[in-house]
Parts: sequence; structure tokens; C-alpha cells
Amino acid sequence: MRFDILSLFPEMFISVFESSILKKARERALIDVHVHDIRMYAPGKHRVTDDAPFGGGGGMVMKVEPIDRALAALELQPWEGPVILMSPQGDPFRQEIAVELAACPRLVLICGHYEGVDERVKEQLADRELSIGDFVLTGGELAAMVIVDAVARLIPGVLGNSESARTDSFSSWLLEYPQYTRPQDYGGWKVPGVLLNGNHRDIDCWRRRQSLARTWRRRPELLEKIDLSDSDRLILKEIQAEDL
Ligand SMILES: C[S@@+](CC[C@H](N)C(=O)[O-])C[C@H]1O[C@@H](n2cnc3c(N)ncnc32)[C@H](O)[C@@H]1O
Repeated sequence: MRFDILSLFPEMFISVFESSILKKARERALIDVHVHDIRMYAPGKHRVTDDAPFGGGGGMVMKVEPIDRALAALELQPWEGPVILMSPQGDPFRQEIAVELAACPRLVLICGHYEGVDERVKEQLADRELSIGDFVLTGGELAAMVIVDAVARLIPGVLGNSESARTDSFSSWLLEYPQYTRPQDYGGWKVPGVLLNGNHRDIDCWRRRQSLARTWRRRPELLEKIDLSDSDRLILKEIQAEDL
């Protein structure tokens, strides 16, 4: 899968794509990431990419022309895309959108900066706007990194253990159960005994119960999205009774 990122600060991406799982995924040609400097597409000697807002007000607005030219240079084919603008006003990014995007051959992510981008980028050039949360960042670069990371790990082969993506929080709308590793006892902080007895049926039951309990206690609204089994409902009733 190919990612094209349009940014005024391409150097911000180096450490993210040069480390850990994303680095390995690039080396194994599972993902192909291209970061394009929007400034290179700004006309004129000074390569101006932003200007004061019409109507007044503080800050600078990113101009439409350099972004339009950078997009044109990508020569996107109709079956590729979508072109996504990072924006706090966008659709909230969530796991189901990551799954949808992971099925695309190519994604283009536009990173705004300063006061944001000229509205015509949203109206004419972007297919959709995505937000990574109800807060305002200084630029779209961190948001683009979040989206590339969440999408890339869903591409077959990127994670060493494909089981991880299946059991992760949100993959089935349940939050993941608690995980432990060695040592069994760290200064009196012990790992639950059920995880040590080697009985996989007991472990699976314990994990399911933990996932249901966590989801109920932390994100009860997610339970409405799940097709719960009769046994899940029974477990939930027990958990809810315990909490009373
Ligand atoms: C300071 S913000 C501009 C905010 C804009 N003035 C507004 O109120 O909607 C600059 C850029 O950061 C990015 N950005 C900020 N917060 C974001 C968020 N929560 N999700 C995605 N991108 C965000 C966008 O690309 C945005 O154009």
C-alpha cells in the first residue's frame, strides 16, 4: 500500500518511518511512504505557501495553489485515493475507518498548519476530512502519523503476529484484556494465577470476562455495537451486579 503525505515539514516524519514496525514494513515493501514538501510546489522565487486570511483575523492560512500543484504531481488514478485532509473539524478517526482505509491501494494525506488551509482545499481537492480527536494540534503531521500507523498495522504481514490485530481493543468493539509478561512476581505484584496454569480454556474465559468488564466499566457505549452471546450477557450481568 502506498501513502503520500503532503506537508510543509517533511522532516517531522523521519523518525516515525525510520523506526520499529513501520521501518520493517517499508523495508519489506509492505508499505511505501512518500512525504512531499508542499513548499516545492509553491510558485515564485520565495515559494510562499501561506497568506493572511481574507476578512482579517490572526494567523496565516495555507494557500490552495501549492497543495493543488502537489496533488497534480501525484498523478492519482481514479481507482486510487482517497485524498484526506487532516482537520480537527473532520470525521473522528476510529478503528473502523482504519479498516476501511487499509483496503485502499493508496492514501493521500494533506497536513494543514498555522490557522489551517484555504477552504477550497476541502471543497475541491479533498475527498474527506479526518480528525484524530477533539483537540487542536499545531499541524496535521502528527495526525497523519497516527493514521498511517493505525492503517499500516492492519496490512497483512506488517505485524509479526497477526493475532494481535484480531484481539486488539476496538477490533471487535471490546477493549482488550490485561496483558502480563515475566516476572510472575515483581516485588509482590503478582500475575493472575489463571494465566500461569496452562489451561487455555480457563485463560480464554478469563480474558473474555476481563474484556467485557473493562468495556463495561470504561466504554459502556461500545457494548451496543457488539453482537453479545448468551454467555457474554450472563457474564455482564455478574459484572454489573459486582459493581453495585
Ligand atoms: C492549528 S490547526 C487549525 C485549526 C483551525 N483553525 C480550526 O479551528 O479548525 C492547523 C492544522 O493542524 C491539523 N490539525 C489540528 N488538530 C487536528 C486534529 N485534531 N485532527 C487532525 N488534524 C488536526 C489540521 O491539518 C489543521 O489544518
